[in-house]
Amino acid sequence: EVEKKVDSVLNLMTLEEKVGQMIQYNGSWDLTGPASETGNKEKEERLKKGLVGSMLNVLSVEATEKAQRLNMENSRIKIPLIFGYDVIHGYNTIFPVPLGETASWDMEAAQESARIAALESAAQGVNWTFSPMIDISRDARWGRIMEGSGEDPYLTAKVAVAKVKGYQGDDLSDPQSIAATAKHFAGYGLAEGGKDYNSVHIGENELRNVVLPPFKAAADAGVATFMNSFNTIDGIPATGSEYLQREILKGEWDWQGFVVSDWGSISEMIPHGFARDKVHAAEIAVTAGSDMDMEGGAYQAGLEQLVEEGKIDESLIDEAVKRVLRVKFKLGLFEDPYRYNNPELASEIPFAEHRKTARDIAKKSIVLLKNEKGLLPLKSSVKSIAVIGPLADDKDTPIGNWRAQGEANSAVSVVEGLKNADINAEITYAKGVTLGEGERSFLMPLKINKTDTTGISDAVEKARKAELVIMVLGEDAFQSGEGRSQVNIGLAGLQMELLKEVQKVNKNIVLVLMNGRPVEITWAAENVPAIVEAWQLGTESGNAIADVLTGDYNPSGKLPVSFPRAVGQEPLYYNRMNTGRPSNDQHVTYSHYTDITNGPLYPFGYGLSYTTFDYGDVSLSASELSSGGLLTLSVPVTNSGSVKGKEVVQLYMHDLVASVARPIKELKGFELVELNPGETKTVEFSIDEEMLKFYTASGKWEAEPGEFELMVGGNSVDVKTVKFDYKK
Ligand code: IFM
Repeated sequence: EVEKKVDSVLNLMTLEEKVGQMIQYNGSWDLTGPASETGNKEKEERLKKGLVGSMLNVLSVEATEKAQRLNMENSRIKIPLIFGYDVIHGYNTIFPVPLGETASWDMEAAQESARIAALESAAQGVNWTFSPMIDISRDARWGRIMEGSGEDPYLTAKVAVAKVKGYQGDDLSDPQSIAATAKHFAGYGLAEGGKDYNSVHIGENELRNVVLPPFKAAADAGVATFMNSFNTIDGIPATGSEYLQREILKGEWDWQGFVVSDWGSISEMIPHGFARDKVHAAEIAVTAGSDMDMEGGAYQAGLEQLVEEGKIDESLIDEAVKRVLRVKFKLGLFEDPYRYNNPELASEIPFAEHRKTARDIAKKSIVLLKNEKGLLPLKSSVKSIAVIGPLADDKDTPIGNWRAQGEANSAVSVVEGLKNADINAEITYAKGVTLGEGERSFLMPLKINKTDTTGISDAVEKARKAELVIMVLGEDAFQSGEGRSQVNIGLAGLQMELLKEVQKVNKNIVLVLMNGRPVEITWAAENVPAIVEAWQLGTESGNAIADVLTGDYNPSGKLPVSFPRAVGQEPLYYNRMNTGRPSNDQHVTYSHYTDITNGPLYPFGYGLSYTTFDYGDVSLSASELSSGGLLTLSVPVTNSGSVKGKEVVQLYMHDLVASVARPIKELKGFELVELNPGETKTVEFSIDEEMLKFYTASGKWEAEPGEFELMVGGNSVDVKTVKFDYKK
């Protein structure tokens, strides 16, 4: 049905109009919509002629309606525009940054926050989000690690599916559903040295087994669009990669949506040294399967000419345009181009409900890293608490980067959250030092305070007088995100100085961290008794943190990314290869750094609770798996502490000998169980051939016979192991 409609529209179009559908303009030359200043006159004229397929960053019902009218009321062909925007972790109501939310390991939560983001953005005229970002990243130096789900392909794939379902709902034509984007295709998160936009050097094995699985999962879940990426992989810009886009995505995976370029990434093939000029870049990109040019000007400059000169076949253009039209039809835009311009829907958005959900998801995302001296949950006998640190009463940092329409300074701060929570203790507050100085925004370089120590003495005095200190330290909202790579990942500026001074006068410190990337906290891990990882949790941050500190919510989050002992360990990830020299048997000549303990400070999957969980003996229903067969792994998990709690039971696997070296362990399943004190639940995982498959040396996604280990535990290090044989 849709295909017929797509074909009938395509048949009516001129070449110029077809190329128009492959062009996306930025609308933020005037945030309220396309303006008619001289510089933008050309854009407006093209809109009127129906020579633009999409706009991004046009915000509000009025602005999107204005742009849509320019197009619909003046153009010959009247094909509705699709409006894209980076709705990454919420639109008005802000949820935890994606890395933080993934720490909940709660896929219902991941879906729910996307659903809410869809409702809020759709009510403002947006019908397409550039999310989820599902780049695997193993390097904390990379600023965009905050935008993804961390280092594991399995977990990231699960989040990808949840997000697509949340944004797109059951039916894309529901005016409260928006099209999602799987980005950035591909390899962007593995930039050399963690430096944004840098080259990626991976082979087929890593591409297929690590980078692509989340994208395949998103494609299978019906994600409407893909975005390609800025980087080269083994010398080929992803934007110009026929292999990635045509062979794999549109060929092997038979995916029917459209690929949008990243901002200017088609023209960036010129500085990459891959294209001579915009026309050449357009030729490469369209041949490779990039369907829409985001604000790059290459398709506008080159496509018509290329067809007219016979350098590319018009069928390439037709194919791309069909893909774009297909998504527009599925969104119902042809039926009603203004279906997202509905003030009534906007007035019905239940913001109060959304905040409740935001608080719930935020508290589930918190990870308890250390809890000694019984400091947490806070005891009612504690009569005075000093809340100290640059982020303690900060209402902006929790909103994080990529904040869409999340208002600056709109989050609940930790100080506010503690005051909202009915606690006995008297609370004093001292900022101590400032972190990010001056005006801060997405595009502005961040200035960190490195000189002004004047607030430290006040903080130390307050700490001295209090029974307990809660220190809130971490990263500014604009320290992570696009273009925010760093060589240092410690607590920036004067924060360590403040922490050390406070620690001299009061050892009862609960350190609450707010950060978008794993931070280097080795000194704190050795010298501070309690550490709470609170990421950048969004609008309800302070309330959620108070819920955990008071014990109103028993923390259940687990790290989706390894925390290093030192930045020099990066890239650091649990699912690494063994190497030929893994052991430390009395020799120097094994794979390690000589000046630091091997391994992370806190491993992937790690997180404590206010209770304890015991894992009983792991049993397997049989010791052999055959093709088409099924094994059941069972493990009894007991809440051995005194309060109710949730545990993420994790299943890992190791293929001992294979046609290519396999990781020492890979996540293959997880289950969130809630247990009362003393209660035991037997958690079961099904093991089948599908779970064993990987991209083998013969270039197939298949399972190879041999011995396998299955490991179960509450993190990626403390596991119990069983073995089985797989026979074809
Ligand atoms: O969606 C983003 C992308 O992730 C990075 N470059 C800009 C795009 C649109 O804002």
